[in-house]
Amino acid sequence: MANTEQFAKAIADKLLDTAPEPSCKLNLPDTADQKPRPLIEMHDIHKSYYIGKPNELEILHGISLEVYPGEFVAIVGESGSGKSTLMNIIGVLDKPTTGQYTLDGVDIHNAADNELAAIRNRKIGFVFQTYNLIGRQSALKNVELPMLYAGVPAGERNRRAKDWLNRVGMGDRMKHQPNELSGGQKQRVAIARAMVNEPALILADEPTGALDSQTSRIVMDLFHEMHEKYHKTIVLITHNPQLAEECQRVLTLRDGLIVGERKGSGKRAAL
Ligand SMILES: Nc1ncnc2c1ncn2[C@@H]1O[C@H](COP(=O)(O)OP(=O)(O)O)[C@@H](O)[C@H]1O
Ligand SMILES: [Mg+2]
Repeated sequence: MANTEQFAKAIADKLLDTAPEPSCKLNLPDTADQKPRPLIEMHDIHKSYYIGKPNELEILHGISLEVYPGEFVAIVGESGSGKSTLMNIIGVLDKPTTGQYTLDGVDIHNAADNELAAIRNRKIGFVFQTYNLIGRQSALKNVELPMLYAGVPAGERNRRAKDWLNRVGMGDRMKHQPNELSGGQKQRVAIARAMVNEPALILADEPTGALDSQTSRIVMDLFHEMHEKYHKTIVLITHNPQLAEECQRVLTLRDGLIVGERKGSGKRAAL
């Protein structure tokens, strides 16, 4: 990535580009005893940049992946292996060049742009290494934002934002702006923001990448809480092998391919 900041801003802009869409339904199985369908279903996903140009570059070379509701999955791999590219496709921030992707029963290939925006807004909560909070806006306003785009009335927005800020331990700093918060505090606000629309899926791209180990622990504990208490499906990219081990499944990406898959404990490591 030539300019991470620019890219983060592009993603933030895309996140804001979310029109409310009433037709966004949860795709539950028809009968209770049926095996749930995967929340994420990818088959032979390829992603290329500079398509048709002399410098055309394929980054993902055929990714197939299923993630079931309630799973906590880690993606690990060296820098440049394509983790963020894959995450952006999972989060419908970007489309694959070829391959099939079904998210919660919706075929991404056939979905209209406003449908994709609604999926991002309603079904997915994003957490980034660089927090991507809006500067000169309070923590409270930042957490209210996804609800604004979802058409939630003002009073309800305020109530839910305060509730989530309390749950992540930021109840006493709701009026603070991002530049008045530490990295760990900013990430807690970002997690509250990711949760306010009650999404089925949380996508976190190196959420502890900029944090010291003690603060990383607090943030990882919050992800465990979102998984265990709120039953969120979580896909977490991390460079930290110990944190990856605490997920239920660990996928290793190398040069745009999944080259390994193993079980993790799915639990916070014992002290
Ligand atoms: N928008 C883009 N345009 C061109 N190349 C890109 C773009 N995004 C990522 N890449 C390239 O794709 C490769 C994988 O990047 P990335 O998915 O960010 O890796 P990781 O997150 O594993 O570090 C890198 O070589 C990067 O330069
Ligand atoms: Mg990355």
